[in-house]
Amino acid sequence: MCGIVGYIGENEAKDILLKGLEKLEYRGYDSAGIALSNEKGITVVKEKGRIADLRSAVTESLQGTTGIGHTRWATHGVPNKVNAHPHQSASGRFTLVHNGVIENYHLLQQAFLDNVSIISDTDTEVIAQLIEKFVLEGMTTEAAFSHTLSLLKGSYAIAMLDENDPDTIFVAKNKSPLLLGIGDKFHVVVSDTMAMRHVTDQFVEIYDKEIVLLSKDRMEIKSIDGMQIEREPFTATIDINDMEKGIYPHYMMKEMDEQASVIRKIIRMYENDQGKFTLPSAIRKALNEADRIYIIAAGTSYHAGLIGKQYFEKIAGIPVEVHISSEFGYNMPLLSEKPLFLFISQSGETADSRQVLVKVKDLGYPTISLTNVAGSTLAREAEHTLLLHAGPEIAVASTKAYTAQIAVLSIIAFVSADERGQSIDLNIKNELSVCANAIQTIMDAKEDIEQISRDFFESTRSAFFIGRNMDYYISMEGALKLKEISYIQAEGFAGGELKHGTIALIEEGIPVVALNTQKEISLNIRGNVKEVVARGANPCIVSMEGLEEAGDRFVFPRVHSLLTPLVAIVPLQLMSYYAALHRGCDVDKPRNLAKSVTVE
Ligand code: F6R
Repeated sequence: MCGIVGYIGENEAKDILLKGLEKLEYRGYDSAGIALSNEKGITVVKEKGRIADLRSAVTESLQGTTGIGHTRWATHGVPNKVNAHPHQSASGRFTLVHNGVIENYHLLQQAFLDNVSIISDTDTEVIAQLIEKFVLEGMTTEAAFSHTLSLLKGSYAIAMLDENDPDTIFVAKNKSPLLLGIGDKFHVVVSDTMAMRHVTDQFVEIYDKEIVLLSKDRMEIKSIDGMQIEREPFTATIDINDMEKGIYPHYMMKEMDEQASVIRKIIRMYENDQGKFTLPSAIRKALNEADRIYIIAAGTSYHAGLIGKQYFEKIAGIPVEVHISSEFGYNMPLLSEKPLFLFISQSGETADSRQVLVKVKDLGYPTISLTNVAGSTLAREAEHTLLLHAGPEIAVASTKAYTAQIAVLSIIAFVSADERGQSIDLNIKNELSVCANAIQTIMDAKEDIEQISRDFFESTRSAFFIGRNMDYYISMEGALKLKEISYIQAEGFAGGELKHGTIALIEEGIPVVALNTQKEISLNIRGNVKEVVARGANPCIVSMEGLEEAGDRFVFPRVHSLLTPLVAIVPLQLMSYYAALHRGCDVDKPRNLAKSVTVE
């Protein structure tokens, strides 16, 4: 949700900022802008649309060695040029970019800015106007910046330029992600290390409510009460090559294709010298002491959590509740005596999940985050962290992170079982390798799946996905993939549940994708398929080898029954990809979405 970049140094800032924004485009892509500062003052260029549109609007003559930039996912006000960032104060002296949501901006506007005309519909402009007001009343820029921040309720990551102080970028954050980067005679500020890896690999964290004054050779971090803070940089390990699309037409195809190798990598990363899966001792202890695990996640990660529950309960015998993070924080259930919170998040930045983390930490409960991004907010703030090792996921639709989440959850459950002395007849390492091979086989059959996608989704307006037991959870994820990138209305249902209401929607020709991977309920799901076919549905049965029958549309190689979600989702991902492609949708950047949801 919105990406921020800033540069102050000796080189021209424009290209560094634009390149950074291109890398951040996954965070929001409805409008973008940059502001450059030079001896003549500050110039702002903004455009509705993508970074490519901004690039075309930026002229050769625009120059400056200090600048800030922003790519937007609209929260307040429609996506247009006026609402795009950067925003300026009335006189044009203060120019700022903001990621987050200011909940009390209307109140602040009424209380302090009666005489100021606000030209945009954004909460951000109010921040710039407040700073100018306090400066006009006699405060220094730093004092006005700090005072304004103290009035804000909500989340923010901010980078600001002051025309009268061209040697400084003013930076602050609360709840929204923001990092500083260090180079030779320059500094950067950025929402995500990957956007500035082309200029540095040295980054410094900023904590909530801190203020930073950044110049080309100085980085002054101050606490809320004005104390100077020294903080060591860390090295970002992300590989620049992993961030490129290479030979693939879309990131989503690249990321689906990487799933087999990601699972093999996870096996390597989680095994010890004796080839046995292990976890850090503090995590094993936390898992061992818990009487119940609360999995907190959103979207696809929530769907992975539902599979994780099966693993913890069936493999390790630990009861689990899975909660949608945006619900849990404001409607907390009665907790067990010794709860353990497990946060699942690809980005590690999801604000809905983070607000739960903050609350349960305050209550003193143990927390583990399972994320793909080392150094992300959830990774830093949870007591313990485990990584997915999936490499950067750029396409908005999550694919390899989902399969990585399931693979790591199976390993955590397996290690927990061992720790609790549960004996389980499962060679998980071998079985995960079998899954990796099966995924590769499915990816090799992508042309067949493209045809299936044409047959079922080319002209439909809606689709249903059904399954039972774990296949139900895969159905939910399959439906989410289809709707988010192809805009076909799709829902995932428990096979037996359709007839309790939703079957009323089944009409002649409507596609119903049925998952058939679990032997003990295979006949039941086939029964559910008959029910919808009797009402005109067009069934697309996806079966695991050994359970197939004539007429099934896709059969994938047999894997262990507990690990079928890792594999069964892959044909559904591919079907969604081709459905989006054939409908002319932007596969990697679907409308209205952003990769990293950093507002609640
Ligand atoms: C769907 C998708 C989203 C995310 C959700 C949570 O393809 O990617 O549903 O899963 O926004 O994001 P993370 O996992 O980063 O917390």
